[in-house]
Amino acid sequence: MALGSDSRHGMWSSRWLFVLAAAGSAVGLGNIWKFPYITGENGGGAFVLIYLVCVALVGIPIMMSEVMIGRQGRSSPIHTMRKLADKAKRSRKWTFIGWMGVLAGFIILSYYAVIAGWALKYIWITGSGSFQQATPELATSTFNDFLADPWQLIFFQTVFMAATIWIVGKGVSKGLETAIRWFMPLLFILLIVLLGYSINSGGFAQGWAFMFDLKFDQVTPETWLIALGQAFFTLSLGMGTMMAYGAYVPDNANIGSTVVTIALLDTVVAVSAGLAIFPIVFANGLEAGQGPGLMFVTLPLAFGQLPLGAVFGTVFFVLVSFAAITSAISLTEPALAYLVEEYNAKRKRVAISLGVMCWALGLGTVLSFNIWSEFYVVGDLNIFGFLDYLSQNVMLPLGGLLIAVFAVWALPAAVREKQLGLRPGVVSIFWKIVGGIVAPLGVLAVFVYTLLPVFQRLVEMGASMLAS
Ligand code: TRP
Repeated sequence: MALGSDSRHGMWSSRWLFVLAAAGSAVGLGNIWKFPYITGENGGGAFVLIYLVCVALVGIPIMMSEVMIGRQGRSSPIHTMRKLADKAKRSRKWTFIGWMGVLAGFIILSYYAVIAGWALKYIWITGSGSFQQATPELATSTFNDFLADPWQLIFFQTVFMAATIWIVGKGVSKGLETAIRWFMPLLFILLIVLLGYSINSGGFAQGWAFMFDLKFDQVTPETWLIALGQAFFTLSLGMGTMMAYGAYVPDNANIGSTVVTIALLDTVVAVSAGLAIFPIVFANGLEAGQGPGLMFVTLPLAFGQLPLGAVFGTVFFVLVSFAAITSAISLTEPALAYLVEEYNAKRKRVAISLGVMCWALGLGTVLSFNIWSEFYVVGDLNIFGFLDYLSQNVMLPLGGLLIAVFAVWALPAAVREKQLGLRPGVVSIFWKIVGGIVAPLGVLAVFVYTLLPVFQRLVEMGASMLAS
């Protein structure tokens, strides 16, 4: 099957490397930090089930659309969208998807690097035994003191950003693939080690029950929306990451089965992270619904009470750091590929310039945890809050919605059938219904819901202005 030429940035050396690279992008802070804490906040089992439904009905079809568009265009998302829109005789306005993706990746990476820096710091302090027999007060103040010190945050943010730039600057096969070949197997091994540890911690039955006992009385409409948003972020959808990675996928790889494998790996890691974390938390009589502090306060505290806790705690934060860096490199790819194509520039040089700008924007996030914590951009959102809200609640859902609509309704059927290997018939119709109707409607629901308070506020502001 000849689909076209290779990408100028290089190609994944096999279908498996694409699976690992995309899983590397997908598995990150979203799985290990966020998934357990929002599961904790939303009552456990029923949330996990709803999240799985969202991955299956919205995540998988949208990821198929992204990868398919990417492989068809074989360029950066911006140029791919322009090319495919021209070819399908559609408006060039579709290129907006590419532009918004570049911007979203830039914004997400700017704060992602700051939070990943916390994990780097925690490798250090957990390993030095700071949490041995620590009290809850000590664990809390360790975290708060760290956040209060901008220089420390900047130091670890810089280390993380530099590592990311160094890897991406080396290119697709020498940089991305090498990092992925090393980090992904290590990540799986570390996760299995931690699971073994947590099974023996004494709290496993309780942790298991928390994750899998269905308590439907706790489900609200909001649960669905949180689960859908999480499915989106964790699968790296909506900003062209999967489109950029899709551009390097060999012609003979089957997109459907590949995407299902990626989504399964991502889900297995998220669920395993929960199963590694909650038993340790329960074994120490701590609370599951701690929020974002679960990983940086509760967990170190729990490790500190357990035999060999300093060792396994360190292992845990090494795991988080690897997971974060393989995600961070994917956030840069849409912008990097675009700049290289547009200006015929050297990849390394582009990587450094982009990295420095992104690092600079990240300073806003650093300061949001200390001296500028009450500097509000809009409403009660400080710089970090605003960037996080804008990227995750506005840009990603909007991008995902447009991508799904473009893939199913704007691209010629022939492209779709060739890329997905779908013969006209039942499967093709099924994909069209799920990918083109169910998934976009699901996203639309989140989108409208998250933006509703914003509209309400605007209306109120308008009304009060009129009244005065
Ligand atoms: N999926 C990653 C995580 O779970 C984060 C990430 C990487 C991402 N690339 C992305 C999120 C693109 C949205 C879009 O941590």
